[in-house]
Amino acid sequence: MKALILAGGAGTRLRPITHTRAKQLVPVANKPILFYGIEAMVEAGITEIGVIVGDTRDEVMGALGDGSAFGAAITYIPQDEPLGLAHCVLIAHDFLGDHEFVMYLGDNLLEQDLGAFVSAFATARSGAAPPAAQILLKQVPDPHRFGIATLDAEGHVVELVEKPDDPPSDLALVGVYLFDPTIHEAVAAIEPSARGELEITDAIQWLIDAGRRVRCELLTGWWIDTGKLTPLLEANRLLLEKLERRIDGTVDGASVLDGRVVVAEGAEVINSTIRGPVAIGAGTRVVDSFIGPFSAIGNRCEVVNSEIEHSVVMDDSKVIDIPRLEDSLIGSDAVVARSKLRPRALRLMVGDHCQIDVE
Ligand code: TTP
Repeated sequence: MKALILAGGAGTRLRPITHTRAKQLVPVANKPILFYGIEAMVEAGITEIGVIVGDTRDEVMGALGDGSAFGAAITYIPQDEPLGLAHCVLIAHDFLGDHEFVMYLGDNLLEQDLGAFVSAFATARSGAAPPAAQILLKQVPDPHRFGIATLDAEGHVVELVEKPDDPPSDLALVGVYLFDPTIHEAVAAIEPSARGELEITDAIQWLIDAGRRVRCELLTGWWIDTGKLTPLLEANRLLLEKLERRIDGTVDGASVLDGRVVVAEGAEVINSTIRGPVAIGAGTRVVDSFIGPFSAIGNRCEVVNSEIEHSVVMDDSKVIDIPRLEDSLIGSDAVVARSKLRPRALRLMVGDHCQIDVE
């Protein structure tokens, strides 16, 4: 089995951060989102990985390299424009050949073991009525925002619709799909949708209409499409929950570390309180500050005389004299500082290389 990971796209919903970086490389719990997907593939025994790249290809290729750091072999497949998830399958045909493959949206994070999902497909494929595809579904409270599946009484998928106004069910397609090679016929046969994209839901519907079986599995753990700020902070929270305490940096006697806190190598904590779960990146200095639960501070940052909670601060940024920063995403190499002290909470999404001076 091969893997196809989608790391192109525009990422309009996470601007300004995605003006300057690939949204799949935004860190959660101090690790790029995309790395979790690659690691899950390798853990499931899938090491031949094709990665779809768009405008941010240099950054994605720089971060993943040839895949050897993950124990994988990565082939990059450039996509000139984000023409849809099924378009990604179309342009990856040479790489995928006649292999079965797992398709994974590079900005999604899920708790479930990918290996179990893959082996359920293998078992079903060796049975009497082998499925051509397998999708993963999750009950959601807001189905109009997702691709939605309708199942028959036996639990087979009978219909898929993309972001319906009048949702036929609350079962949303999670960003992981398994396909046999018949999907190549489907993606070649369908037409672009009203929004001009080749939709994977249309391709799967084509399989169903052609009499192929499409299996589904229900996701039990959490799943997050990190393309927006609130789910991104939620993913950060869920992954920090799994943190194991580890102190490699230095912490002075006046500081208090409470609960699951990671202080990476070369980081310094001086006269500060850190209440976990919190990750502090390598080479970061935290001075006279409070870092509250569910915060991930990247590498080489400086937090001075400030209070931060439930936020992601990316590499090389500074937060100085900010009485309270919460629910925020601060890009890399940014400065958030204030000159006159006035107690007020800030909620910010700050792009890379920005300077915010608060009066
Ligand atoms: P989406 O979230 O569907 O689209 P997007 O990245 O364009 O985001 P936005 O709506 O914020 O503008 O994409 C899901 C994943 O698939 C994401 O990792 C980007 C990737 N993708 C491609 O690689 N090529 C494509 O043609 C599309 C549509 C998405």
